[in-house]
Amino acid sequence: MPLLIGVPAETLPGERRIAVVPEVLKKYLALGAQVVVERGAGKLAHYRDEDYVGARVVESAAEVFGEAQVVLCLQPPEPAKIKAMQPGSVLVGMLQPWSDAKRLELLNKKKITAFSLELLPRISRAQSMDALSSQSAVAGYECALIAADHSPKFFPMLTYAAGTIRPAKVLVIGAGVAGLQAIATARRIGAMVEAYDVRPEVREQIESLGAKFVDTGVAAVGEGGYARELTAEEKAKQAERLAKAVAQCDALITTAAIPGKKAPVIVTAEMIARMRPGAVVVDMAAETGGNVEGTVAGEKTWVGEVLVIGPTHIASRMPVHASEMYAKNLFNFISPFIKPGGEFALDWSDEVIAGACLTHDGEVRSDRVKQALGL
Ligand code: NAI
Repeated sequence: MPLLIGVPAETLPGERRIAVVPEVLKKYLALGAQVVVERGAGKLAHYRDEDYVGARVVESAAEVFGEAQVVLCLQPPEPAKIKAMQPGSVLVGMLQPWSDAKRLELLNKKKITAFSLELLPRISRAQSMDALSSQSAVAGYECALIAADHSPKFFPMLTYAAGTIRPAKVLVIGAGVAGLQAIATARRIGAMVEAYDVRPEVREQIESLGAKFVDTGVAAVGEGGYARELTAEEKAKQAERLAKAVAQCDALITTAAIPGKKAPVIVTAEMIARMRPGAVVVDMAAETGGNVEGTVAGEKTWVGEVLVIGPTHIASRMPVHASEMYAKNLFNFISPFIKPGGEFALDWSDEVIAGACLTHDGEVRSDRVKQALGL
């Protein structure tokens, strides 16, 4: 039997992306798989039902979840949708593996094989599947534009008949995939950029983008090349050194994250109070608690004369390309297991499959998730 792939509409308010775009649909069909798409699923990403040529467009989410052998999604589906899935079927998405132990129970009860792309091993071979990176790149770009859009100053240097306007100073804290894209984007618009990260190896990457590395003397590399949480002493040292750079910038963009944990608070209210009037803060980590004291997710807050923005669903602000990038990541993840004629067979000896697996056969398979949730 050829594989039947299901593509539901995302229902979380603010989510505009879709897991399969028409260009990638063609690739699944070419492999012999069949695809069922919920009516209107691509609407918010500007993909029309009639663009999904060769797929069956159905009226309800229940049909997608109830019929498909593999469901491809962005956000974790609501419990009723998981309940509608066939026992033993496969769910692939950005399932927020650390956020909800009850969802894991339900996935296990239904014996769903769930893959969460946040768990994908960060190895070279998996780069083409790395949805965290592709969506972070979109988010970093967007955050730089949000900062420029809300700044009362030009980002570039501007010479006009009566003189010269100095370029804006942008500070980026957290220089992972998102931070580096924010740096590159702010540079392209002409700002002077400084950046900081606890991983010392990013210094070279920051400098290669034409930005200056802010050296606080605090380095904290943890498991898998990710940052680890700082000790109280390290936090104090970091704050002292960063305070000056924060006070001098016109726009601050923060992107620091620790997988499975609340985002670290790096910029205190005191540091914000010392910023220039009209300065803008864009806290990309707002959804996971924020890097800036007082950020409210989804809101713009004036703290004195400083505007603090906590954008949410950032990648969804650019849903056409964010969906295209995500859909290609998913295809690269799942397509090696679609055999000629459309048969589906997972290879559990594949470290990418094993690493990204959240639940299988009634059990939570990820040690990282078990540890984080105390299971
Ligand atoms: P992330 O989204 O987990 O975190 C963002 C950034 O915040 C990171 O650069 C992190 O070091 C930094 N950060 C955390 N706590 C901080 C603090 N207290 N102060 C300042 N900065 C802080 O990071 P992302 O972008 O997902 O990258 C994580 C790791 O994965 C990196 O080592 C990156 O090089 C690696 N990577 C590997 C890939 C591959 O080989 N397939 C692809 C993409 C990333």
